[in-house]
Parts: sequence; C-alpha cells; structure tokens
Amino acid sequence: MSEEKCKRVYITTPIYYVNDVPHIGHAYTTIIADTLARYSRMVGMDVFFLTGTDEHGQKIEQAAKAKGKSPQEYANEISEKFKSLWDEFDISYDKFIRTTDENHIKGVQKAFEVMYEKGDIYKDLYRGHYCVSCETFFTQQQLVDDEFCPECGRSTSIVEEESYFFRLSKYENRLLEWYESRPDRILPKSKKNEVVNFVKNGLDDLSITRTSFDWGIKLPSCLNDPKHVMYVWLDALMNYVTALGYGTDEKLMHYWPAKVHLIGKDILRFHAIYWPAFLMSLGLELPHHVAAHGWWTRNGEKMSKSKGNVVDPKEIADAYGLENFRYFMLREVPFGQDGDFSQRALIDRINSDLGNDLGNLLNRIIGMSGKYFDFKVDSEGVKKWHEKELKDAEEIFSTLEPYLYEIQTNRYLEELWKTLRIANKAIDTAMPWVKMKEKKEDEAMATIALVANILAKVSVLLHPFMPKTTQTIAKSLGFTVNNESYNRLIKSGELLKTFTIEKVPPLFPRIEEPLVETPAEKAETAAKEDKKEVKSKKSESNEESKAGLITIDEFFKVSLKVGTVVEAEEVPKSKKLLKLQVDLGEERPRQIVAGIKEWYSPSDLVGTQVCVVANLKPAKLMGMVSEGMVLAAKDEDGLSLIRPERPKKAGTAIG
Ligand code: MSP
Repeated sequence: MSEEKCKRVYITTPIYYVNDVPHIGHAYTTIIADTLARYSRMVGMDVFFLTGTDEHGQKIEQAAKAKGKSPQEYANEISEKFKSLWDEFDISYDKFIRTTDENHIKGVQKAFEVMYEKGDIYKDLYRGHYCVSCETFFTQQQLVDDEFCPECGRSTSIVEEESYFFRLSKYENRLLEWYESRPDRILPKSKKNEVVNFVKNGLDDLSITRTSFDWGIKLPSCLNDPKHVMYVWLDALMNYVTALGYGTDEKLMHYWPAKVHLIGKDILRFHAIYWPAFLMSLGLELPHHVAAHGWWTRNGEKMSKSKGNVVDPKEIADAYGLENFRYFMLREVPFGQDGDFSQRALIDRINSDLGNDLGNLLNRIIGMSGKYFDFKVDSEGVKKWHEKELKDAEEIFSTLEPYLYEIQTNRYLEELWKTLRIANKAIDTAMPWVKMKEKKEDEAMATIALVANILAKVSVLLHPFMPKTTQTIAKSLGFTVNNESYNRLIKSGELLKTFTIEKVPPLFPRIEEPLVETPAEKAETAAKEDKKEVKSKKSESNEESKAGLITIDEFFKVSLKVGTVVEAEEVPKSKKLLKLQVDLGEERPRQIVAGIKEWYSPSDLVGTQVCVVANLKPAKLMGMVSEGMVLAAKDEDGLSLIRPERPKKAGTAIG
C-alpha cells in the first residue's frame, strides 16, 4: 500500500432518518465519529468524515403525509435540523450527504446497473412479512407470535409483490472469510459471533425493490421498469460511496475503503452482511471496520417519544456545556454496551473527573507557579527530580492509541486520567511549598514543571474529545494543540522547555443540582408532588372520591391528544373492530384498535381527526397491539367520535 493511501482515513456515521428529530442516540454516534476524525487529523492523517440524512422510504412518505407535506418538503425540514445541530455542536464533518441529492441518486442507479449486469440481481415474486416501521422483511421464524415485528413489536403485514432480488446467498462464504481475515472487522469484537452465526444459518437472497410505494430511487432507465423503487437500505448504504462520487464524479474515491463505519447495534446486520456483499458485487474494497455501539436508555428503558423519556442533546449540552457532555458520553459506557443516561452521573463526571482531577491540577500549578516563580516555568530539572513519574506517565501516553482505534474511548480516558493522578500525587509527595521553605527552589520548580508537562500532554491527547477546553489549557501553558505540538510532545516525547503560565478562570465550576428538568423528571416531580398532596389531603380526598371527584393533577395524568387518522382498515372476522393508524405528531403513527366498526367505515375516517388517550398502556385486541384509545360518546342513537371543532395540529394536547 502506498504511504499516501495509508494516511487516508474515511470515517462515517449512519445517515439519520428524517422521521425523527435528533436525540441523544444520534448525538452519541456523531460525537464518537467526530472524536476519531479529530484524533486522526491531529496525528497527521488525511481525513474525510461523512454524515448525513436518510430520506427515502415508506416511513418518511407516511410521516410527511400525516403532516400534510410532500416527502421532499418534510425531508428538507428535518434534514436541516440535523445539519444545524451538528453545526452548533461543532461537528467537524467534511460532507453532509442527503439521499435525495442528485449525485447520490445517480450513483445508486449506477451501482444497481453494475450489480445487474454482473448477474447479481434478478427479478422474481416476493411474498413476506414486512414491517413498515422498520422497513424490513422478516421470515416467519423471526416474527413474534407469528405476526409481530421482532424489532419494534408492531404488527407486520404480508406483502406480495414483484421484486428484484440481490444474490446475497452467493456471498455467504466470502463474507465468512472476510470476518475471519482480521479479528477486529466487527467492533466490539464480542459482536463478531452474532454476525458469523447469522450468516452460517444461511442467507436468503434479498428483495431490493418495492412497488407498494413511490418515495424512493427509481431503477436505472435501461431496465425500463418504472413501477419499482429501490429498497431503502440499498439506497442508504450506498451513501458511503456516492458521497465520494461513486458513479458520478469519482475524484474523492481515493478515500475508499472506509476506515470505520460507526453505527448503533440495531443496524449491525445491514452493515456487516448486506453492505460488504453489495461491495463485493461492485468489485469495491471492503471497509476496515464496522463498529457498533450500544443504546442509551432512561432508567433502563429504551427512549421513545411516546414514553416521554427522550433526552434532547441540545438541552443537555446548553445546560452543562457541550464539551462536558462529550466527555461524559465518551467516558461513561464501554463501547458496545448500553448506558443509562442520568444527570446525576453527568454531574458526578463533571465535578469529579473534570473539576477535581483536571481543573484543580491546572489551578494548583497556576497558583504555585505564580506565587513562587512569577508564572515562569523551566522544565530543565524534571528528568533529574521526577524521572520515575515522567517515565510512568510517558508509558501510559504511548499505550493509548490502540484504545481509540478499537473505539474504546472509555478505556482511553480512564488510562489518560491515571497520568493526572501521577501528577497530583507528585505534588502531594514533593510538597513544593516545603521545598521553597527549605530553599530547594530547583526541586520545587521541577515538580511544577513535571505537572505542567503532564497537563500539556494530557491536553493534546484529550483534544479530540474536548477541542476547545484543551486549547484553553494549552494556551495557559503557552502552546497550541495541533499536529506540530502532537509530534513534539507526544510522538517525540519532548518537554515544553521554558514557558510562562497564563491564568485562566476555573474551567469546570462545581454543579450541585440537576440543571435540566427532562420530561421524565417533570413527570416524576409531578408524581411525587401528587403523592405529598394525596397524603395531606387524605381525609378530604376520601370524601371527594366518594363523590367521584378527582383533583386537577389526577386529571392531567391522562394525556389527551388530537390525532389525524392516516390509515383505517377493517379487522377481518371482527364485527366491532377497526384498525387505525393515527398520527399524534410522533416518530410514527400509532396503531389503535377501536370498537367503532358498526358506526364508521374506514373511508369515513382517513384524513379526519379524533381525540386520543395517548398514555394508555398498550393492549392486545384480537392479537393486535393497540397503543391508545379514541374518545367517543354513545347513546341509544349510536356512537359518535369526539373530534376537535376546528382542525388542530396532530399531537396537540387537549386539556
Ligand atoms: N437510516 C438508518 C441508518 C442508515 S445508514 C446507511 C437509521 N437511522 S436512525 O436515525 O434510525 O438511527 C441512526 C443511528 O442512531 C443508529 O446507529 C442507531 O443505533 C442510533 N440510535 C438511535 N437511538 C439510539 C439510542 N437511544 N441510543 C444510541 N443510539 C441509538 O437507522
């Protein structure tokens, strides 16, 4: 491999669906990728860092329809939300791709043509269980209770359609060889077996076109088959090469293959099986690594809008500081494992790791260097008086990089922090203030200089994680973090020589109490207050409850919302039930099974609005999950749905 090629690093995030606004999970993937990109640039690599949005598919088409928008209009809006959040978060991406970009569309069509001409794509009839929400077909064995999607629990439908297929089965052996070609193809390494076993169980050919909806990339015109659009995962995965100009203007293709595709564990199968198989078919090299992180949860539960427990990354970053938030995410959980988000854990990291260990160390040397040496520091005596500490710290610095390349950011930071402990301990043991009294000024200076040098090296190695904070630390030590200082202080292990320390205000002021009231916490606080109130008003409330009265707080526990019916169908074999898909302004419409068939036909309902009890525990009716209840009034003349007098935005609260 040429030296130039060795120096190229291509890093990608998944492209995010535009049916949801950015949340902490998206921020996590992007921040890990940003950290790797920044590190690689700092050490002198030629980096290309890609992120973007995934905009086609039935799910997006439906979400747009429910909002009364065209899919393109809707995608433009949400895509912009992702882009501006990444800009606000100072994410150092080189390209933001959108799957509605013209060059992406052309590139995907070109890829389809290449695979078709190679004989890897053929036309046949497909019949299978399809989950609209996950855009995925499942085999009978994969379904839960013979009907429900194993990923999201929603009801699947049997789809029979003419489809083009990709000969995935042909690539079984080559995929297995690829996983074995390096132990770290899939990161964390513990995930490899999951993928290998899936492939060893046998791969079916993959249906890669759809005729049941329209919002997708058309097949290349040479196939002359306009009713098909491409399967959204084929379209989406191709972004990793179309962003480099595949099939159009290939001048960035020299960045291929990707060093690492960073993804969440839920989309590992697509990246570790389908994607390499597509690449083999295209005759392109395979990525070096696919790295799958775990999920962020709240109190052990998956985050979702309907549970009201989604953490807004911007709210957290605004309150606690973007870089503190970055540090927390990258330090808190071992890569690949799930992590529970709590403000308490974030506050502890800020106060302890950042405030006590890092910030205080800087304050200590600012204080001592100012008091004893007018802020002037000379590293001359460090090797003489602190050889062991310096050697121990250097040894740790030299072992860090592999952690980062295995995306073990928590281990990297954990090790780095050990050097701060060496520095703090050196002060406590050497006691420069005593040395000053004993007139051993050179020894006191050596300790201050040791600590300043450890801090300088830490600020370089921490730079990709906390870009601005580390520049502030470096500035106070008289240098700037860049490739030159990386080479000098880390690669060559040099010391800073003589320099003047500049005072900086405290970097990590202590935080006592949570700064943000998240929706879940708001609900918790409200519940606690309710309890208190219930206690104090017990006797009063006994009387009231006898009279059937409830408090306003009790009433507000019921979440009532306006919803728009986007789909309605009869439940076969049921006299009473209709199955509705109701948009409540959430990620995806809710499925509500309602006993209203005697009074309403599906066509009466689609496009109309209803009032919904939105926080009702999901229940199963005739094997179908129902995620809410529509309000209706019934008397001897029949049943009437309760509707808003004038149209209201889907999801508007009632109360
Ligand atoms: N569009 C596809 C990816 C196509 S890539 C060719 C997609 N998009 S997504 O928006 O649903 O998810 C993007 C990423 O966010 C995934 O890697 C997913 O794992 C991650 N997360 C979504 N929720 C998450 C958490 N709660 N926690 C951590 N990450 C999770 O999938």
